[in-house]
Parts: sequence; C-alpha cells; structure tokens
Amino acid sequence: MTIADPSIVKVLFIGAGDINFGCGEGPWNHSIRLEKILGSRLHVLGVVDPNLSRAESQIGAKRADPKTHAAWAGATVFPNVPHAAAALEAHSITLIVNGCPPPFRGTTLKGKDLDMQLMKHFPDVRGLLIEKPISSSDPAHFDLETVAFGLREWQAKPSVLSVGYMLRYLSPVAKIRSVLAEHNLVPMCVSARYFMAYPLAVNAQWWTKSIWGGPVVEQATHFVDLVRFLAGSDVGNEVVMDTVQASSVEWDEDAGVLGAQGFDESLIQEDQRIPRLTTAFWKHQRGTVATLTHGVALQGAEYSTEIEILADGWRFKLQEAYSTCPTLTIRSPASNDDTIIEYPNEDPFATEFQVIVDALDGQSDQQPLSSWTDALQTYKLTWAIRRASEETRRRNKGTRHNGSATNGTS
Ligand SMILES: NC(=O)c1ccc[n+]([C@@H]2O[C@H](COP(=O)([O-])OP(=O)(O)OC[C@H]3O[C@@H](n4cnc5c(N)ncnc54)[C@H](O)[C@@H]3O)[C@@H](O)[C@H]2O)c1
Repeated sequence: MTIADPSIVKVLFIGAGDINFGCGEGPWNHSIRLEKILGSRLHVLGVVDPNLSRAESQIGAKRADPKTHAAWAGATVFPNVPHAAAALEAHSITLIVNGCPPPFRGTTLKGKDLDMQLMKHFPDVRGLLIEKPISSSDPAHFDLETVAFGLREWQAKPSVLSVGYMLRYLSPVAKIRSVLAEHNLVPMCVSARYFMAYPLAVNAQWWTKSIWGGPVVEQATHFVDLVRFLAGSDVGNEVVMDTVQASSVEWDEDAGVLGAQGFDESLIQEDQRIPRLTTAFWKHQRGTVATLTHGVALQGAEYSTEIEILADGWRFKLQEAYSTCPTLTIRSPASNDDTIIEYPNEDPFATEFQVIVDALDGQSDQQPLSSWTDALQTYKLTWAIRRASEETRRRNKGTRHNGSATNGTS
C-alpha cells in the first residue's frame, strides 16, 4: 500500500481534549506522538470539537511553539464532522484520530454515531484511530453490530484501523505472548489488578455512570482487554460471557468513602455515582479463569497496576504498565527463582502510532493489534462485569443497613 505523497501525512483530530493534547493525569497525548514520529511530514488539517474555544486554544499553543508551528500552521477548528468534511473536500486525508468522548460514538443513533458519520463523510480516509472504549452506550439496548459491520467493510479497502488499546503494544506483553505460543501453553489463570489514583480525575462526566459508562467500562477496559489478549482470545480462548460474576464497593458504603476528590461529587445524582471498587471473575473457552479488580482508591498521581499469568510451570507478572519502565517477573520450569526484566523507555502510545504509520506507508504488513470487531468483545465483557456487579448489589441490598453489611444471621 502506498500513499499519494509519501512526504505529507494529513491528519484530522476529533476532540480537543486530554487524549489528543495531554494532561497532568497520565502519559496520554496523541498529538505529541505523531509530531515525534512524523516530524516535518505531519500536516494537521484541523480539530473537530463543539467546544470551539478549547480547540482554538490547543491549536494556538501548537502554533506558538516553533517546534510544532509548521505542522499546525494550516489547522482549522470545526464544530462537527459535516462542517469539517465540507471544508476539507479538496484534501485527501491520511489519518483521522478520533478522541471524542465515548457517549458520542459506537452506535447508529443520531448524536451517538460519530463512527458512522466519519465513514459517510470521509469514505476515502486511509487510516482511523478510534479511542477506547468504543462507546459508552449499553450494548443490550443500542445497535453496535451495524457499526462493526460498516467498519469491517471500510477496513477491507484496504484501510488501517486501530482501537486505542495501546497496552497491547508493550514489549513485556509481546514477550509473554511469545513464550506462551512457543511452549504451546494455555493460561490457567489471568489475574489483573488496576488501582487508579483519583484526585486528578476532575471530569464530572467520568464520575457519572450514565455518561462515560463507569470505571470498568471506561478505564478497567484496558486490563479487561489485556486479559483477553493474554488469555489468547485470538487463538480460540475467548471469554464465556455468561460465566461473569462480580461485586463492587459503592460510593455509599463505609468502605467506599473517598477523601481527596478534586471536584464536587454531590452534584452527581446518587444513582449515577460510580463504584469505588469492582472485582470480577469469569471463564474462557479453553478453561482459563480470569479475575479483575479495579479500584478508584489511590491518592497522588500514579496508578498501580499488575497483571499475572499462570500456566503449567510458568508465572508471569507484569507490573506498572503505565510507567515508562514496566517490569516483567518470570518464573519458569527451569528454576524456583524469578527472573526480573525491566523495560526502560516503554511508550506503547508511540509504538501503536508507529505501527499505524508504517502500515499507511506500506513499510510493514503488521496491522494494528486491536480491531473494532475485537474491541467490541472487550466492550461487551466490561458491560457484563458492570451488570453482574449491579445485580450482586441489588441482591445484597436487602441484607444491608446504614451502609454496613450484615449477614442476616447475627
Ligand atoms: N488510551 C488511554 O490511555 C486514554 C487516556 C485518556 C482518554 N482516553 C479516551 O479518549 C477519549 C476522550 O477522553 P479525553 O480524556 O480526551 O476527554 P476530554 O473530556 O478531555 O475531551 C473530550 C473533548 O471532546 C469534545 N467533544 C465532545 N463531543 C464531541 C463530538 N461530538 N465531536 C468531537 N469532539 C467532541 C469535548 O468538547 C472535549 O473537548 C475517551 O474515550 C477516553 O476513554 C484514552
């Protein structure tokens, strides 16, 4: 596959928010990765965001910096996709980076159909990065399959599509998958723990279940996806959805009290406030048991994450997936002692973009590691976990009094 003018990569950003332009909460910042990878090849056509002043200010900051001025000199702000399409008709766009919030995409319903709009208005775009989660709308009530079908057809052109599950690109993840494949191992257990640091999370929509879907759908989705990837969902070991069980610690329980929130949660309707902790387990088709614990619990700024894989003779433990130096601890059949491997300078966001750019350039046959159809399975699993925890809560409510659990026998 080649592009018409290999020296220029024309990019349109959807969303002027944190994922595309960075923030203090984490390492995400798509524009910086593209600037580094593409250098003078990058030509940003614009930013689509109904919050025009936010988009203007992001573009302004890029233009004010001599290092990025040239790439952003021709960028325009657009309030929506149809306006952008009309104004950019003369351009052939190489890549669209869709970092709008999840309530606006993933379905066929007007206002929640951004993917469908992009396919309609930019049928010839060659690359598409869609952020995770693919939506926040309940898959039991919205049509996500039509979107999956449309994107599969679009991708068959051929076009390059990636869903932003960047942790799949971590070197230690590749290492675990290659050892499992080399020894023909199916994991017995994949166990994931994701503890978020919450004081810097001040977006009230994130803390509202009905808008961003809740912390499992929006955030733990990264580790739910990693569990599927490491269990081998692509080699016949997909999740058995009806085995999902879950329980949560809710905002109104003694164990769910948070003392360092950076915004006023009392403004959020009580029944829409998010759980503080969710723990879940489920089975995969070839027998693997998976567990997930996600907590909105740590203070400070850094998350604490761990994912452990157990297979005959082997234990792998990947720690601090979000840091620039994740570690992988391996115990093998050869020894009782652990081998610890450090991975300095890991940047899975950059690796994901490198794969996308190389595929667009025709430099590599490697396709991005997460397709929309695959991400839909992760999405359905996060909703199954959310529903199972809500069901457990409903069942247990009769045995609770003033936020303190009783077992009904004392
Ligand atoms: N991969 C990661 O680690 C990671 C990290 C952060 C965010 N994300 C994902 O990125 C997405 C955006 O998150 P964020 O933190 O940037 O949110 P944000 O709230 O900081 O920014 C979102 C922006 O999108 C704009 N917007 C709203 N509706 C829009 C529409 N219809 N079209 C275009 N723009 C629209 C908003 O006005 C806002 O400026 C979410 O899906 C989130 O889960 C992923």
